[in-house]
Amino acid sequence: MKRIRKAVFPVAGLGTRFLPATKTIPKEMLTVVDRPVIQHVVDEARAAGIEHFVFVTGRNKHVIEDHFDKQYELEATLRGRNKTAELAQLEADTPAAGATSFTRQQEPLGLGHAVWCAREIIGDEPFALLLPDMLHLGVKPCLAEMIEAYEAKQGNIIGVYPVADDETHQYGIVDVGGATDKVAKIKAMVEKPAKGTAPSNLAISGRYILQPSIFNLLATQKRGAGGEIQLTDSMLELAAKEAFHAVRFDGRVYDTGSKLGFLSANVAYAMMRPDIAPEFRKAIGDILNG
Ligand code: G1P
Repeated sequence: MKRIRKAVFPVAGLGTRFLPATKTIPKEMLTVVDRPVIQHVVDEARAAGIEHFVFVTGRNKHVIEDHFDKQYELEATLRGRNKTAELAQLEADTPAAGATSFTRQQEPLGLGHAVWCAREIIGDEPFALLLPDMLHLGVKPCLAEMIEAYEAKQGNIIGVYPVADDETHQYGIVDVGGATDKVAKIKAMVEKPAKGTAPSNLAISGRYILQPSIFNLLATQKRGAGGEIQLTDSMLELAAKEAFHAVRFDGRVYDTGSKLGFLSANVAYAMMRPDIAPEFRKAIGDILNG
């Protein structure tokens, strides 16, 4: 069984739901407390043992590349001012030299196409895929739980979580035949089912472990929901040939691509921070109590 060493982060999206903030700033660089959304997701991947970080970017996303590079002038200034904690944090957050790769999705053809753009960098090994919009907050990082499941079951793994019945049309939905186990075999999946037609309320949470055989399917994948090349459609084809399991994430999932999810994530992550939680709780209470 091949170890999961590389992770793909599709970061080419325009972020139109967050205009005007995203006119010049990539949506992945918006902060949840004091860390960019993309840094939180890279943190999750590193905690799961990922060694190489592959970003599928687009035009106007170069600041993501800068963010994961060293900033010599800033580091020298911090050193000169004895800001050792800030310096240590910057150093800890920066991946090692050579541990990042950047490629571009030249046209907005959909998630399936974005993943396909990483094929040369991934090569012939299974890989993780993390959608930066989705933040997972739980006792254990979601990808770490999925890698445990991968070691037991092998094949392909998708993270899922229950959503409200009236939200299923916004997500990829998996059918596990009613199984309630944490790790369950996938029977079917459908991308953004029309209202009232979803086979379950288990949504794809934006975390995947995929075999490289997905790339051949993506290469010829026809456009699906929303006129885009959908990863879910290729995964459904792959599920007919290879093992495919869903891992139910028991923590909270925040869709930071929506305003409500983004604001909720900021509150939830602030509440997890011992340095600000007590005062923040009081400040929120004051606001709510008028
Ligand atoms: C993508 C996936 C979908 C998944 C969702 C999670 O959709 O295609 O299966 O449930 O991410 O956020 P998107 O949000 O890009 O439309």
